Amino acid sequence: MTVKLIYPITLITSRFGILKGKILPHHFIKMKREGIKIVMITAYTYYQALIADAAGVDGILVGDSLGMVIMGYQSTLPVTLPQIVHHLKAVLNARPKALVVADMPFLSYEVSRDEAVRNAGKLIKLGADAVKVEGGTEIIDKVEAMIKAGIPVMGHIGLNPQRYLQLGGYKLRGKTVDDALKIIEDAKALEEVGVFSIVIEFTVAEVAKKVTEIVKIPTICIGSGPYCDGQVLVFHDLLGINPNPPPFAKVYVNGFELFKEAIKKYVSEVRQNVFPEEKHYYRMPKEEYNKFNALLKEKLKRFKHS
Ligand code: KIV
Repeated sequence: MTVKLIYPITLITSRFGILKGKILPHHFIKMKREGIKIVMITAYTYYQALIADAAGVDGILVGDSLGMVIMGYQSTLPVTLPQIVHHLKAVLNARPKALVVADMPFLSYEVSRDEAVRNAGKLIKLGADAVKVEGGTEIIDKVEAMIKAGIPVMGHIGLNPQRYLQLGGYKLRGKTVDDALKIIEDAKALEEVGVFSIVIEFTVAEVAKKVTEIVKIPTICIGSGPYCDGQVLVFHDLLGINPNPPPFAKVYVNGFELFKEAIKKYVSEVRQNVFPEEKHYYRMPKEEYNKFNALLKEKLKRFKHS
């Protein structure tokens, strides 16, 4: 007897329908081939992700920059995997069409291949579309292990903020021949093990351009010039919420002043009894209020006599 397996139509449509319009890692590679610039921004919360997605970005990075712009740490080094998990969940609740990349924080992937795969896998199981790691040849075995496990990985070369202690600060990369060649070597090593794209941070434009020409996967730049296949900016820098953005960030609106002025107005309106206005609160029906008032008077008299 032959048994026919019939999948319910709803199951088939929902399995495929769920990806409708969703940007996945291979779309980034296609965009490079077609010469379409890739636009990314960081986000750490539900509404930031909703805003970014509504604005039409291609990728949202739940960056370890959250250590500085959300937590107020002096660097990204104290950021933990549970912190990335917490903010990744918030971003995923916005169900963005944009590719969601979860940053792997310092020491969540460097120790061993097993740890790298397990930690990256945790982020993918939660719903991230890819993970990002900082470094080149020195972490290549961990990157390879993650990719072999089926995890899409975005590389990050040039300035690696997680290595600022070793690098002597947040210094421009690629200025010397040796440093430029090291960056090219990192990019090639990452491409060879199968990363789907590479962030190039704070690197001279000539070197970022060479990397972009040499590798087939897209390069996403931050502070590394216009020749890359895409750009990424930190949410709080772009919107001027961070009053001390890095010199390479373009500030599109003075968010700090804008929000401060709005809150100042709120403070003043509460103090002057301007807010709340009639439209900001609710009243009892007149008849109900009269009954309530009469009963309350009786009740209060009884309280006085007890
Ligand atoms: O964490 C982050 O925001 C980043 C960007 C600077 C690319 O890694």
